[in-house]
Amino acid sequence: MNIFVFPAGMPEALDFAVAARLEGHRIVGGSSLYHDPASAEYDRWIRLPLLGHEDFDRKFMHCIREESISRVCVSHHVAWTRIKELLARHEPGVAVVNPSPSALMRARHGLARRQTGRLGAGLEIPAPDGNDALSRLELLSLVTHAQRIFGHSDDQKIAALATVAARLPKGDIVEIGSKAGRSAFVLGWLARRYDIGTLLCIDPWSRDAASRQVESSAIVRQHAGDNDYDLIFECYISNMLAYLYGTVNYIRKTSDEAVSIYRADRCIETVELGRVEYTGRIACLHVDGNHDYEYARRDIRQWSEWLLPGGWLIVDDYHWAFGDGPQRAADEWLSEHERQCDCAFVVGGALFVRKRVEQAHEVNR
Ligand SMILES: C[S@@+](CC[C@H](N)C(=O)[O-])C[C@H]1O[C@@H](n2cnc3c(N)ncnc32)[C@H](O)[C@@H]1O
Repeated sequence: MNIFVFPAGMPEALDFAVAARLEGHRIVGGSSLYHDPASAEYDRWIRLPLLGHEDFDRKFMHCIREESISRVCVSHHVAWTRIKELLARHEPGVAVVNPSPSALMRARHGLARRQTGRLGAGLEIPAPDGNDALSRLELLSLVTHAQRIFGHSDDQKIAALATVAARLPKGDIVEIGSKAGRSAFVLGWLARRYDIGTLLCIDPWSRDAASRQVESSAIVRQHAGDNDYDLIFECYISNMLAYLYGTVNYIRKTSDEAVSIYRADRCIETVELGRVEYTGRIACLHVDGNHDYEYARRDIRQWSEWLLPGGWLIVDDYHWAFGDGPQRAADEWLSEHERQCDCAFVVGGALFVRKRVEQAHEVNR
């Protein structure tokens, strides 16, 4: 199918074009700019006069017929209304494939409002004085920006992380398995909001490490093997630069290899994210790396050694459609450490556990 995209340099237009190309369509792009860098993204490029110019309608319709266009995508709200009318009048068989951009923006925001409105109630855990819950707009902002980042944490888990963050002691936030940075963004944003500490992300971002997860189903292993980890790493860096510069850094190694680095260094310096200081005590540990039982077990055991009293351990995919490694590892740890924990629940498939703040008379038991 031949699809015409106009104005083809807008981010929404380019998003549409990459998806349409994946579906095998021929994409003709057009805009009124003399030089539009987006032209290289299209199979053919057509310059049209400005929308208000007397020649616009004629040249637009000429392009539709010459290029045998059967669908049009229009990402600019004013151009959308005008082109809809033009096509209805002259070529009713050619459809505009996207809804009105203004209506879509309103509908998406309405959806985000309704979705976040359904979140948040139900976790009744006392918070220290002064650590108020996120406002409705803060939660909406956190959830909508998180969901723009490629990743696996759902809205329920994000809301639970927000509840837990208001109750954290001061210390490091450590995440094992960050991928493109969705949960890292949430943790880092909350760490700033509640002044908890800095975020350390540990992930090898490598196919070799991903291929060591062998207990999950074949389809999961296939996906892990197909990923381009350098590209995912670049997405992660770009997301951290956009939102969290100065309060986040990473170790691009497996969690086993990162243990000795975290033990030895209070400061991590990288080319992309600069220098970030850590305390060596963990307020929140998010385990979401290799999901095989042995790896999850080691991650929980090795890293929870640094967990502060009042700190939270979060094991992602405790309920998981593709395996039970995280659950077996977490249950085993919980049964051994039951007396040191005072709160546990599962939300969004993740297990949340709080390490008890020891009372003075319990310390020497
Ligand atoms: C499920 S994804 C993480 C999703 C992420 N937390 C999010 O919110 O989107 C798992 C990540 O663990 C990483 N990983 C695999 N083996 C690892 C290991 N041994 N140590 C640390 N990370 C590992 C993978 O590279 C992958 O990025």
